[in-house]
Amino acid sequence: MTERLAGKVAVVTGGTSGIGLATAHRFAAEGATVFLTGRREAELAAAVEQIGRRAVGAQGECRAIGVQGDVAKLEDLDRLYATVREGAGRVDVLFANAGIAEFATIEQITEAGFDQTFAVDVKAVLFTVQKALPLMPDGAAVVLNASMLTIKGVPAFGLLSAAKAAVRSFARTWANELKDRRIRVNAVSPGPVETPAISSLAGGQEQGRKLLSEMAAHVPLGRVAQPDEIAKAVLFLASDDASYVNGVELFVDGGMVVPKRRSRQDPRALTPSGNPWRGPGLARPRPPPRSPAAPLSPPRCRTRRAPGGAAGSRPR
Ligand SMILES: NC(=O)c1ccc[n+]([C@@H]2O[C@H](COP(=O)([O-])OP(=O)(O)OC[C@H]3O[C@@H](n4cnc5c(N)ncnc54)[C@H](OP(=O)(O)O)[C@@H]3O)[C@@H](O)[C@H]2O)c1
Repeated sequence: MTERLAGKVAVVTGGTSGIGLATAHRFAAEGATVFLTGRREAELAAAVEQIGRRAVGAQGECRAIGVQGDVAKLEDLDRLYATVREGAGRVDVLFANAGIAEFATIEQITEAGFDQTFAVDVKAVLFTVQKALPLMPDGAAVVLNASMLTIKGVPAFGLLSAAKAAVRSFARTWANELKDRRIRVNAVSPGPVETPAISSLAGGQEQGRKLLSEMAAHVPLGRVAQPDEIAKAVLFLASDDASYVNGVELFVDGGMVVPKRRSRQDPRALTPSGNPWRGPGLARPRPPPRSPAAPLSPPRCRTRRAPGGAAGSRPR
């Protein structure tokens, strides 16, 4: 394997499971020393052990260090960066990933749910990045974990969509604010990913599986993502491969945000070639040649487009 992050120091928040854990694995495998966080002590220790076993540096040093803490508590963030300063002295790559989600429609959202979502998914992202800045050298890379929900209006995901839209917005603003230090800031926006978050969102493993298969039906690739498929995109944004990529929202969603065709008819049925825009099926009939002597027909009445129909143009 190439070592695209050789000698770099990375911080991954929410590294105890799912996308964060997969990314911490990737970063360490690519040569980085990774500081990962999470609230659950046992899961954090297990993650560090797993990564350390697979990614031991040339000198035998362990490439994963766990720092337990809650990203929504500023004193925990201070402790995280104090540990990083002491252990490595800098942060070359930051993946602000930790996040939570809950299902609630506009009628169901509570003040507590709002405060919790915005505390972890928005406020914590801001201070995770702000407090890392003094440790970041020029040319460092920040990746924020957003979601394809930034541009979708999925019922019961209003809180998460709004929070992730804020995160996407941070990426754009900070890319400009940090330009003098050449710090690149990008957002990754996953579609549905098979992680423990889905089961806890759905209320159990069985319900989680059902939710995942429902989600898969909306993905052009016909399946949900595995965490490592997001981690590979995060690695790209974090590494020099993305040296000219800044302020973007990279959708890693199997094509879910691609606008759908409106036609109710299978386009392949329209033409033998299978190309709906060429072939005889949609060829526009040519008007019969008009003899020069024929009287001009009166202008045709413009009609409204019939629902589902193709005729007529809009009235002026
Ligand atoms: N799964 C998807 O379909 C999907 C799609 C789009 C975007 N995302 C985003 O991807 C990110 C990771 O989600 P995931 O699906 O990988 O979920 P996950 O497996 O549940 O992982 C969430 C991670 O965040 C950590 N975390 C949560 N709250 C925290 C807090 N207050 N302080 C510190 N760590 C905290 C968790 O660790 P502890 O529990 O140990 O604290 C865990 O490591 C989230 O930002 C999520 O919005 C997920």
